[in-house]
Amino acid sequence: MARILLGVCGGIAAYKAVELTRLAIAAGHSVRVVQTAAAERFVGRATFEGITGAPALVSEWERDPARGAFPGDPAPDHAPISHLELVGGADILAIAPASANTVAKLAAGIADNLLTSAALSLRAPLLLAPAMNERMWEHPATTANLRVLRDRGATVVEPETGALASRGEEGAGRLPEPPALLAAIESALASGRSDYAPRPLDGLRVLVTAGGTREPIDAVRFVGNRSSGRMGFALAEEAARRGAETVVVAANVDLARAEGIRYRDVVTAAELADATHAELAGADVLLMGAAVADFRPAAAEGGKIEKGGRNGLALELEPTEDVLSAVAQARRSDQTVVGFAAEHGTGALARARRKLERKRLDAIVLNDVSGEGIGFEAPDNAVTILTVEGEREVPPASKTEVAREILDAVESLRAEASGLRIAASGPGVR
Ligand code: CTP
Repeated sequence: MARILLGVCGGIAAYKAVELTRLAIAAGHSVRVVQTAAAERFVGRATFEGITGAPALVSEWERDPARGAFPGDPAPDHAPISHLELVGGADILAIAPASANTVAKLAAGIADNLLTSAALSLRAPLLLAPAMNERMWEHPATTANLRVLRDRGATVVEPETGALASRGEEGAGRLPEPPALLAAIESALASGRSDYAPRPLDGLRVLVTAGGTREPIDAVRFVGNRSSGRMGFALAEEAARRGAETVVVAANVDLARAEGIRYRDVVTAAELADATHAELAGADVLLMGAAVADFRPAAAEGGKIEKGGRNGLALELEPTEDVLSAVAQARRSDQTVVGFAAEHGTGALARARRKLERKRLDAIVLNDVSGEGIGFEAPDNAVTILTVEGEREVPPASKTEVAREILDAVESLRAEASGLRIAASGPGVR
């Protein structure tokens, strides 16, 4: 059983919202209805009130006799602000039909009636089932508005193609039938997505380095390492899920790319250094997950080194730039820098702590690569997250799970740092 707040916009398809309400209640859900003024011209609120057993609301200025409670719930003992109370109790806001006008308002964050105000204060999933004439559906403004809403986490139920309301017209824009709408609402509820609400890293720019660099020996051979880039990609995907604008500097990573993340491919440590320095100015957080070569062949052969007649081959290596140290030296005070340390065996923790201090990092993620089945190339990882304040051991888990823990730590570091900055700026000075 879920508490469904059903938003109904003005359009001929509003009649289907009546049947949707009936089906939802028959399926055991508790439903409250908010209509726009235009919707009331198509279906009177008495119809929804009769079916839900609760007041249907239109204006933010009218009193809600149910005080925001869903049928079956006790009403609060005070008269609350109706849109806040209604969305506070809802498990989902489903707008069906959603008109082009309301879709545009939601995309712009306009809150000029009870439904749009409710949507703007929502912390639960938002589902939209747009229905309109095909010409309005295909207008670039509608397409752009829906893209904005999708990016914010709204679920959009695509309209169907078929006979439209205006006589003789066929096309896209028909509201799906009520059973399909209810199924979409139930599946949005089951997915547990609530990301229409503001996300913790909204507005933050996160730069991730991932993978392992390759340093050419000659035209066909290189010195490389076993890093697959999985941990770095998992970090980038989690940062993006939390709302961050995310850029990945990817060194030789052969993994699927996620939508909404910008990738910059590099091969060598020098290319990774250039790309990282270039992206850094626009970043608030650096997660330095790449396994960067510490040394490279001093002189790579242009062609292919032939074996012919050789007894052996000595490679002369020269140091590469330590990107993380260089970045940490030059960082702004509002940037958060997290390093990674692949350590082997006893003393790993102490070595990682020394690295944290020497490189002046905010955190270092220690990856003990002596364990079986974790770390390099594996889907799982076990890490210890060290900060100046202390350390937190993350037991073996998927790299996605580990990425969550690391980003939780980043969020805490950012919250602490912004608290310190505000305190340092003194009373009344912001
Ligand atoms: N790193 C870097 N540039 C390099 C080498 C490493 O930015 N040329 C970064 C890695 O991305 C990682 C961190 O430094 O975030 C730790 O790398 P690691 O190789 O474990 O440590 P080093 O600093 O190289 O120290 P050492 O090898 O002496 O333990």
